[in-house]
Amino acid sequence: MTRPILGIETTCDETSAAVLGADGATRSLVVHSQDVHRIYGGVVPELAARDHLMRIEPVVTAALNEAGIERRDLGAIAVAAGPGLIGALLVGVTWSRASALALGIPVIPVHHMEGHIFGPILEDPDAEPPFVALLVSGGHTLLIWVPRWGSYQLMGETRDDAAGEAFDKVGKLLGLPYPGGPAVSEAAASGDPCRYGFPRPMLKTVAGLHDGSAAAAPGDFDFSFSGLKTAVARTVIRLEQTGAIDAERPHLAASFQAAVIDVLAGKALAAAAVVGCRRVLLGGGVAANRALRTRVRGGLGRRGRLFAGSPRLSMDNGAMIARAGLFRLQAGLDTPGLEEAAARVGIPGMVPWRPGQREGTVGRKTLPGNPPGRDSQ
Ligand code: KG4
Ligand code: ZN
Repeated sequence: MTRPILGIETTCDETSAAVLGADGATRSLVVHSQDVHRIYGGVVPELAARDHLMRIEPVVTAALNEAGIERRDLGAIAVAAGPGLIGALLVGVTWSRASALALGIPVIPVHHMEGHIFGPILEDPDAEPPFVALLVSGGHTLLIWVPRWGSYQLMGETRDDAAGEAFDKVGKLLGLPYPGGPAVSEAAASGDPCRYGFPRPMLKTVAGLHDGSAAAAPGDFDFSFSGLKTAVARTVIRLEQTGAIDAERPHLAASFQAAVIDVLAGKALAAAAVVGCRRVLLGGGVAANRALRTRVRGGLGRRGRLFAGSPRLSMDNGAMIARAGLFRLQAGLDTPGLEEAAARVGIPGMVPWRPGQREGTVGRKTLPGNPPGRDSQ
């Protein structure tokens, strides 16, 4: 395909469209963040779907204008078909299918979390596998070994709340605005991260993996954040009773953030050590957290590489969907499970990681248009 591709993202509360050239270069990106949910302190699915319906046409038109092209110039439409809120997904998928039918071009359904893996390469051509991907969003926490594009080995995932969800819930407990992530990290900037010793759930399972003094077992890289959230809730209740909550808010935010980052960075760095690859990619909204980036970068050291897009490309956007769709189209890979909008669905082709297993069989190391990846194994 030589014509540009349109990427559509409507899985949650961002309506976004982007145009990428067939070489993968971003030609435009438009993101509309819904604020109808703010007063409810969380995303209201019915309102999200209605707002996507109102916004999708103007957002696409703006993206096409910014790229300086007409609809008939498009060669394909990539759309995030899951996972997400079903009403929201249906708007993007139905719009894309109808438009592609009218234009006589293919639709490529994309898994939203695979899209996040393609966020950093939009800005940094070096963000190519092999790497360990830590994907941290409002609905998911995934640690994936990616030896090559399209080959995904799931090392760990959350057993309860996602990392972003924990930030959002703690933000609510602290009386901060939605979404909690940016608000908590802002409050944390002036707080003492050591004031409260909140638990670091499941961090012990990776002890000894960094230096090879212990062997990894399946489940070691899983996460759990609901206990940490409960620990913060108990402390908040106690401080409300004593009237100290206002003064303690920054310290609570900082102490909570320190606990989440210890766990996320600890697991990602241990995973990198175990697979023998000091390259980590951060994706999803929580990847916008500066303290998290700094910690992972520091842990990887001078010889390692951290790939993390700017906050705009870490959060939900149509450009990452277009990039993942372009890869699937050019590699001739289909997307089983995503033929229809799917609220819950795994990344196509993802297999469980097994200790000792290093290579996948699917995919390629270098994207078309990119120079051959460095640090190849
Ligand atoms: O990937 P994303 O934009 O949407 C989903 O796919 O869910 O991620 C949104 C999540 C929210 O939970 C939000 O609170 C969190 O990312 N987030 C942050 C930060 N910015 C956004 N969490 C921590 N620190 C941040 N700076
Ligand atoms: Zn996302």
